[in-house]
Amino acid sequence: MKLSGATLNLLFIGDVVGKGGRKAVKALVPQLKQQYMCTFVIANGENCAAGAGLNQSCLREMDGVDVFTSGDHTWDRKEFEDEIRGMKNVVRPANMSKLQPGRGWLCTRNPAGGDVAVISLMGKVFMKDSAYCPFETAEQILTQIPITCKCIVVDIHAEATSEKAALAWFLDGRVTAVLGTHTHVQTADARILPGGTAFISDVGMVGAADSILGRAVPDVIAKFRTGMPHKFPVVETGIRLDAAVIRYDMTTGRALEIKPISVMYEPES
Ligand SMILES: [Fe+2]
Ligand SMILES: [Fe+2]
Repeated sequence: MKLSGATLNLLFIGDVVGKGGRKAVKALVPQLKQQYMCTFVIANGENCAAGAGLNQSCLREMDGVDVFTSGDHTWDRKEFEDEIRGMKNVVRPANMSKLQPGRGWLCTRNPAGGDVAVISLMGKVFMKDSAYCPFETAEQILTQIPITCKCIVVDIHAEATSEKAALAWFLDGRVTAVLGTHTHVQTADARILPGGTAFISDVGMVGAADSILGRAVPDVIAKFRTGMPHKFPVVETGIRLDAAVIRYDMTTGRALEIKPISVMYEPES
């Protein structure tokens, strides 16, 4: 993946889980930026505070990330309801009640040139929160994004691959990338759609490789087997970082390449 005259690379990181995930992001982002010549970094932070929710202090630990997205766990931490109001680099799902604090999309400067718009959307299929239609919400937001902002990245936080793929095809040619989050499992369907939109059903997570979605294996098995209430401890060691690198044309906003990556974090101890 090369950085040439009119193209830029951005790094999009899947759901960051717990302290182990935060540490991995902090340690790996500088080297990944260098390795893949990325000038802008987006990460889904919805699980970064002890595996459920996010807050200002946890997000500040990951200082190499330019914009954070979130999802169904956005409001798991009470303090975040106030904190999000003062944070300019965080988005929560746009297709929720307008009474929710924070914003569903933002447009910010890419230090390497041009602007980047980041939109957070939540799926409706198999999701417990009552979200508005992500298709309609996306179209409404697209009418509000300044014409000068060519790079538009959509985080579709959803369970069903069909819903994510449908949104990507719906927005093909109108946004730079539609990137799925929430399942914590990286999918093998990364591609550029005919209109120039990069798509992957799910980017994956930053969490323990030997875990179930970042949680301790025995507890998750026990929950499935017994149906009884169970706590799911976050596994903080053996962390794998899943992400995608997107190369796009600065003048058109079209994606030229999407490269999924998955690297183990080996802390120096
Ligand atoms: Fe998640
Ligand atoms: Fe989620």
